[in-house]
Amino acid sequence: MPEDRIDQLYIVTCTAPVNIAVIKYWGKRNEDLILPINSSLSVTLHQDQLKTTTTVATSRSFQEDRIWLNGKEEDVTHPRLQSCLREIRRLARKRRNDGDPCMDSAGLSQKVHICSVNNFPTAAGLASSAAGFACLVYTLARVFGIEGELSGIARQGSGSACRSIYGGFVQWIMGNKEDGKDSLAQQVEPETHWPELRILVLVASAERKPVGSTSGMQTSVKTSCLLKHRAESVVPGRMVKMIEAIRKKDFAAFGELTMQDSNQFHATCLDTYPPIFYLNHVSQQIISLVHRYNKHYGETRVAYTFDAGPNAVIFTLQQHVPEFVQVVQHFFPPETNGADFVQGLPVNCASLSEELKQSIGLEPVPKGINYIISTKAGPGPCVVKDPTQHLLSSDGFPKKMIAV
Ligand code: DP6
Repeated sequence: MPEDRIDQLYIVTCTAPVNIAVIKYWGKRNEDLILPINSSLSVTLHQDQLKTTTTVATSRSFQEDRIWLNGKEEDVTHPRLQSCLREIRRLARKRRNDGDPCMDSAGLSQKVHICSVNNFPTAAGLASSAAGFACLVYTLARVFGIEGELSGIARQGSGSACRSIYGGFVQWIMGNKEDGKDSLAQQVEPETHWPELRILVLVASAERKPVGSTSGMQTSVKTSCLLKHRAESVVPGRMVKMIEAIRKKDFAAFGELTMQDSNQFHATCLDTYPPIFYLNHVSQQIISLVHRYNKHYGETRVAYTFDAGPNAVIFTLQQHVPEFVQVVQHFFPPETNGADFVQGLPVNCASLSEELKQSIGLEPVPKGINYIISTKAGPGPCVVKDPTQHLLSSDGFPKKMIAV
């Protein structure tokens, strides 16, 4: 039994991954249910490098639902958090009423304490809402004994969270029902499918806080006709091609579609009125660098994608990682001597030829990138079996305040 029932306290801890979209979700057709205007597809990143951990406890003694995020108590009445809690409790009640008592009725009426932390600094500007809501929903489902489809609930916390419910390569099918019942995530291929695929998160030094995705996409839906064209006429075909590229492990096709889709997403941001800029001069330099690197070799060896922030996510194959990391380090010289510049999966040393440096031929941008997280595709949410890992202690309160 992974869960522990100690003195009326029922406690479960789970972890969930971050995902990075290669076909972007941008725009909702229903704000309350979080229904998108187009399907999207992502790669789930490995939890050894990036994950959220969440502990949920229930007890008769709890007076109210409470939540602590990264060491700080937050407002539990947040509407999206309430949507997830309501939906989980509704399903638990339904199961009990259907004569499948997974939990006693006291459990159902009990309040929850939720505590959640990320293993990466919030300051890195990595999207944490996807991993956060996926982890919340997955953990609540374990507490309330709910099995089966969870992506439709995670979606109501944050759209992209529905894709973090699965590992590997995941599509979020937009669906067409008004109630959103068919707007769900689905695994395309598991994380073991393409073992050579590597992911480098280039953590940029953000200049200012960018416009959040929720409000950014609202303005785009209202004002961008390019976004409408993209959703109706571009994404459907790209989804088919992307799934095919992944199934065939065709890196050139996968990489080109990934870059084109990132560029089109940022074009819709520029087409938004007033325009939204997520790419800065460092992002532009990374884009040029990738294209020049690929041109030098006459093939697509590396691909970039950018979300609603300045970090670049690079896809490549294992054999190209050492040299490409050297290229990044050369054109974005770090502050120190390069120690700790690369974190995560170990990267072998490589030397850079003068010919390659010259053929890229860009002016270096010192300190443009803070550090690199080297990772790969990984599994979906997991239950943490070790009870010492619970974030709440036996009194149901956070064990320690973790300042991130
Ligand atoms: C650019 O899922 O953060 O990362 O549904 O409003 O919570 P809400 O938005 P969110 O949007 C993610 C946008 C994106 C692209 C993507 O992940 O598909």
